Amino acid sequence: MKSLANQRILLGITGGIAAYKSAELTRRLRDQGAEVRVVMTPAATEFITPLTLQALSGNPVHTDLLDHAAEAAMGHIELARWADTVVVAPATANFIARLSNGMADDLLSALCLATAAPLLVAPAMNQQMWQNPATQENVARLQARGITLLGPASGDQACGETGPGRLLEPDEIVPAIIAAGRTSRLAGVKVMVSAGPTREFIDPVRYLSNRSSGRMGYAVARAAEQSGASVTLVSGPVTLAPPARVRVVEVVSAAQMHDSVLAEARSCDIFISAAAVADYRSREKAPQKMKKRDAGISLSLEKTPDILAEVAALANPPFTVGFAAETENLARNAKQKLAKKNLDMVAANRVGDGLGFDSDRNALEVYWRDGSQSLGTASKELLARQLLEIIVARYREQTSEQSHKPAVTEVSD
Ligand code: C5P
Repeated sequence: MKSLANQRILLGITGGIAAYKSAELTRRLRDQGAEVRVVMTPAATEFITPLTLQALSGNPVHTDLLDHAAEAAMGHIELARWADTVVVAPATANFIARLSNGMADDLLSALCLATAAPLLVAPAMNQQMWQNPATQENVARLQARGITLLGPASGDQACGETGPGRLLEPDEIVPAIIAAGRTSRLAGVKVMVSAGPTREFIDPVRYLSNRSSGRMGYAVARAAEQSGASVTLVSGPVTLAPPARVRVVEVVSAAQMHDSVLAEARSCDIFISAAAVADYRSREKAPQKMKKRDAGISLSLEKTPDILAEVAALANPPFTVGFAAETENLARNAKQKLAKKNLDMVAANRVGDGLGFDSDRNALEVYWRDGSQSLGTASKELLARQLLEIIVARYREQTSEQSHKPAVTEVSD
């Protein structure tokens, strides 16, 4: 399976001779399933042409902060929000200095300031420039801000010198990008995620369903896996690539999803119910294709089992997270759901206006018993990571509370 499947990587290229390696890097990232958009500084275009990167990335290359046409197509803020990860390779000494000072005088530096995505920087420069205290101070400042440094390697340099400052090879950068997204915060924790729509057949060829793409649930499963959890994804019919190292159980109907989820709910620690389970199904399923008639027909619908509520009602339930897609009264409905289904957390999203179902982007309001947090509009990958941060914090708090509770002893008189 591809380790960067469905990941959106914004590759920044700055003006150094090592920029030629960015072409190969773009290919390798795409080989791993990533979608790549390239942003080049003007100096980078002196070393390698935007046309090369456009052909290899399959997307237009962005170079100019003040280009009206480019800004109209995908503005710098939109690009900053689009990215799940920003990688600058190669990063020159000058770019690192500008980044460390928070400059925003070209497209790439502005993007780096405007993005909430993790930022990875692969330096490439002459060994003296790398070892210069000014560069070392700048690099230390970047690291203190949580920016990940990839390399540099040591060895022969294009300038004829030998020492530290070589750009890592593309086949070293790709695994480093994959590894940079990984933590072990959920090591040993079993997470189950449900995702996608369900199909409720009314005859062998027709069904009731909804617009869910499954993207949010898949992104949550990937984020959980990247946090070191062992993840099972119970998925309705979708067209997405399965996330790497995640066990996928494919189901079609709400009844099948119910059985698959309940079969494992007792042995999992966290259940995140991102599936858009059909609320109703036809009371009867015709064994043969229903014939068209002149008159209209009526379907008699019955409720499907509420999987999430059943999991939350188990004697020893996992930490249970529900989703709520709402078109109105978001906060009230989400809080009601939290209480009524006895959940640990609800992630509510407003559907419509290009957000929510079948869309790349989303915004979430997350509620738990005594708190809430807003996650602003972003890609579903980034939101999933942010949501998982909140889940991990609340889950840890809950498990440490439970381990501090005095043991209950039965007293008989
Ligand atoms: O009550 P409502 O359908 O709005 O709740 C949405 C949440 O409940 C989602 O997390 C969804 O996955 C879950 N759900 C479920 N089984 C159903 C309907 C919804 O698990 N039959």
